[in-house]
Amino acid sequence: MMKALVYQGPGQKSLEDRPMPQIAAPTDAIVKILKTTICGTDLHILKGDVPTCAPGRILGHEGVGVIDSIGSGVTSLKKGDCVLISCITSCGKCDYCRKGMYSHCRDGGWILGHKIDGTQAEYVRIPHADTSLHKIPDDADAEAIVMLSDIFPTGFECGVINGKVKPGDTVAIVGAGPIGLASLLTAQFYSPADIIMIDIDDNRLEVSKQLGATQTINSVKENAVERIMQLTDNTGVDVAMEAVGIPATFVLCEDIVAPGGVIANIGVHGVKADLHLEKLWSHNITITTRLVDTVTTPMLLKTVQSKKIDPKKLVTHRFTLQDILSAYETFGKAADTRALKVIISAA
Ligand SMILES: NC(=O)c1ccc[n+]([C@@H]2O[C@H](COP(=O)([O-])OP(=O)(O)OC[C@H]3O[C@@H](n4cnc5c(N)ncnc54)[C@H](O)[C@@H]3O)[C@@H](O)[C@H]2O)c1
Ligand SMILES: [Zn+2]
Ligand SMILES: [Zn+2]
Repeated sequence: MMKALVYQGPGQKSLEDRPMPQIAAPTDAIVKILKTTICGTDLHILKGDVPTCAPGRILGHEGVGVIDSIGSGVTSLKKGDCVLISCITSCGKCDYCRKGMYSHCRDGGWILGHKIDGTQAEYVRIPHADTSLHKIPDDADAEAIVMLSDIFPTGFECGVINGKVKPGDTVAIVGAGPIGLASLLTAQFYSPADIIMIDIDDNRLEVSKQLGATQTINSVKENAVERIMQLTDNTGVDVAMEAVGIPATFVLCEDIVAPGGVIANIGVHGVKADLHLEKLWSHNITITTRLVDTVTTPMLLKTVQSKKIDPKKLVTHRFTLQDILSAYETFGKAADTRALKVIISAA
């Protein structure tokens, strides 16, 4: 038996003894978890916002671990290898995978800790192990690398790549949560002139400054649109990233995008948001949406190994799997605890 954090239906979770996962298909691997973490999406599941996640599910889609066993069809990994687990499972063979759109894999996508048991446990079964795991050096910093399961590819692919950030650009990122901060760090690969972070939490704005924001705006204390227009000679920003997931922040991006600019939506939206085409039809803008594909994970791993980025800067708290309920408590009250990412050690 092993310990696992189990979703028990809206508002309920428990740390339970569960049977060890077993290889179910030749392409599976069983990974012994070293480090995992909690995502805002896990909180959405617990609120009951993700009906496709059934009660009884072990949560978690982020992790670093060691291969414990492999199916007979796994060719590129072996027992004892250290691996990063991608939040997106991909078969590598279907039409979507062949286009690099792993998020829409016909036999994968976001299933971990959602449609199949996840990583907040001592062991996890990973389908399509060859293409859903990334081998990492034995001495790699697991706490830094576990940030690459989800938040760094998300901030980079949905925000920076889709936003087409270029040297000299003025970039605004609405939402300074872990995802917005990952966008902030990875936008700097492209040397934008200015990165303006907008949030309602002064602590997160302070962290943003330490991580390279050139300006910060608390949109409760001041009018964000007016401030952006002041900062940009009444032009607006070249790239507006939406990293919150509510109508007001998407509309804010519409209000601050410059003619010719890009609105890169990252947030998961539960309700409709207004699109002001009566104003934007003539502004030559682009609006992008994306579910993270994790196609950039190998590239991001290199930038962490070479110390171009340090994802560990987002780690604020550490717990053991035994204490995962306290980890949820701390992560769920981020405004009070100043939590960004909480590391959970399972071994
Ligand atoms: N597209 C994808 O593939 C993908 C993947 C993972 C997460 N997401 C989504 O990205 C979004 C950000 O994730 P996160 O983990 O950083 O979330 P988070 O909740 O930690 O951060 C959101 C931030 O927005 C701020 N905020 C709230 N209301 C605001 C407002 N009115 N104006 C300005 N700021 C406001 C909060 O203070 C917080 O700092 C979420 O919607 C999440 O579901 C998308
Ligand atoms: Zn996530
Ligand atoms: Zn596929």
